[in-house]
Amino acid sequence: MTTNKKLLAWVEEMANLCKPDSVYWCDGSEEEYNRLAAELVENGTFKRLNDDLRPNSYICMSDPSDVARVEDRTFICSEKKEDAGPTNNWMAPAEMKTKLHGLFDGSMKGRTMYVIPFSMGPLGSNIAHIGVELTDSAYVVCNMRIMTRMGQKVLDQLGDGEFVPCLHSVGKPLAEGEKDVPWPCSPTKYICHFPEERSIWSFGSGYGGNALLGKKCFALRIASVMARDEGWLAEHMLIVGITNPQGEKKYVAAAFPSACGKTNLAMLTPSIPGWKVETVGDDIAWMKFGVDGRLYAVNPEYGFFGVAPGTSEKTNANALASATKNSIFTNVALTPEGDIWWEGMTDEKPAHLTDWKNRPWTPESTEPSSHPNSRFTAPAGQCPVIDPKWEDPAGVPISAILFGGRRAKVVPLVSEAFDWNHGTFLGSTVSSETTAAAVGAVGQIRRDPFAMLPFCGYNMGDYFKHWIETGEKADQTKLPKIFYVNWFRKDENGKFIWPGYGENIRVLEWIFNRLDGADIAVETPKGFLPKPGTINTEGLDISPERMNKLFEVDKEEGLVEMASIREYYNSFEGHVPQELYDVLDKVESMYKKS
Ligand code: OXD
Ligand code: MN
Repeated sequence: MTTNKKLLAWVEEMANLCKPDSVYWCDGSEEEYNRLAAELVENGTFKRLNDDLRPNSYICMSDPSDVARVEDRTFICSEKKEDAGPTNNWMAPAEMKTKLHGLFDGSMKGRTMYVIPFSMGPLGSNIAHIGVELTDSAYVVCNMRIMTRMGQKVLDQLGDGEFVPCLHSVGKPLAEGEKDVPWPCSPTKYICHFPEERSIWSFGSGYGGNALLGKKCFALRIASVMARDEGWLAEHMLIVGITNPQGEKKYVAAAFPSACGKTNLAMLTPSIPGWKVETVGDDIAWMKFGVDGRLYAVNPEYGFFGVAPGTSEKTNANALASATKNSIFTNVALTPEGDIWWEGMTDEKPAHLTDWKNRPWTPESTEPSSHPNSRFTAPAGQCPVIDPKWEDPAGVPISAILFGGRRAKVVPLVSEAFDWNHGTFLGSTVSSETTAAAVGAVGQIRRDPFAMLPFCGYNMGDYFKHWIETGEKADQTKLPKIFYVNWFRKDENGKFIWPGYGENIRVLEWIFNRLDGADIAVETPKGFLPKPGTINTEGLDISPERMNKLFEVDKEEGLVEMASIREYYNSFEGHVPQELYDVLDKVESMYKKS
């Protein structure tokens, strides 16, 4: 238990508002997890998978209307609209609070309010921060136990200290005697952030980032505000350790928009001998400067909430291995043997399945068996290539930062920024074809700066400025170098030029060697590009001509891109820092001269 007065008072106030039948403080024990999971089985929310095939694991099918993050229902409620900026939905905090009080009033009737104390980051690390989520969903509790360090040990660590209050309700109170449905949720959804008071209120959805509030809501939207105020970085980045055949190791952080293969890169199995990639995190990085002036990163999470479809022995054997036990699967298909399956898991489709909508499924079915945004929740510690330092409270020193997106044209396989400001420029221009991770059209190009478009808790232009200032304040010789990668370039027949997956180690090798100062790059308007022949293609069936296609620099195309970036910057109405316009001017003049 706790004597934290602020926490006790808040729990009481929220219980009075939400009116649950009872309030339960989670201790985080295994016994508690098993008990709640058994209750979820009883309610029809969970099915226990065959323990011989997938020990201590569950499958869960959500309501078909509640399957992804709802960006159009996500709000940044800063005092001033300008502070939320043009990329966020905004409502004045007082107005939103009135609305939310109305919605939360009695929203937990007939249910239990669970109190989940959780630490984002290793307990006691000076890069970590604590949150407390109140929720009426046992599904959320079970997922939070995999995704965060949670329970009594967090309260012990918290003492009288500060925490981020996170209130969550599925928004489906139960009348006296009313039977619950397997996946309670509400057609009305609000995912709200109050950056000035650093709090989160989420109503109506039980799914992923809408409901597991430690992840996108806290570790990105609220933490980005904390990071700005306190001089650190909260980023939508994976973290990996890369070891070369000589045994030298470097840590790299990388930002990609949702569902661009981040989890695959985080757990990459290198295709070339002697190289090793180890996982620190697959989605979020919190980075602070150490006393030695270097930037240190922790993964604030404790598990993976990975996109299931497409994950296979070939694409990501380590993700599959992470989820062989003690895992939760949401919106995938169930096999007759009591195991799980999803599109792309095996070449051959099973003859019979129960699909994510609980209907019989065969390979002749017209719809996929699993939802495109179906997920596995798996403990990070079960990853076969988890990095030995993944729980180090000091974090790991970052040597390089990668940005990337899914672009069929224009963007080269890899480029290196001239300096930190140019790297910030590249980050600010990240763009990608949209995927199923969020509700909305799939396959359109959208700018997703730093892969933070749906996750930045304040004005994106000011966030760019925070990056510039972070670079200015740092020891330039110790700052990570910045790169931009794009595995997804296509040829004129619409075929991917680069094989991707485990072969991406070849690009990481080039980056690794650049970090060691190798003379393998040429200056172009796109940054430093690999000199021809300096990416190791030994054993790959790819001609030098095809490789060259990955690095084409086209003057007209480049000038069109620069004009589109200028227009994009102008849309932030004066918030984009002059330093980025200076980089834009410089790159534009390089194109003109090329
Ligand atoms: C995620 C996302 O779930 O970025 O990680 O959408
Ligand atoms: Mn993500």
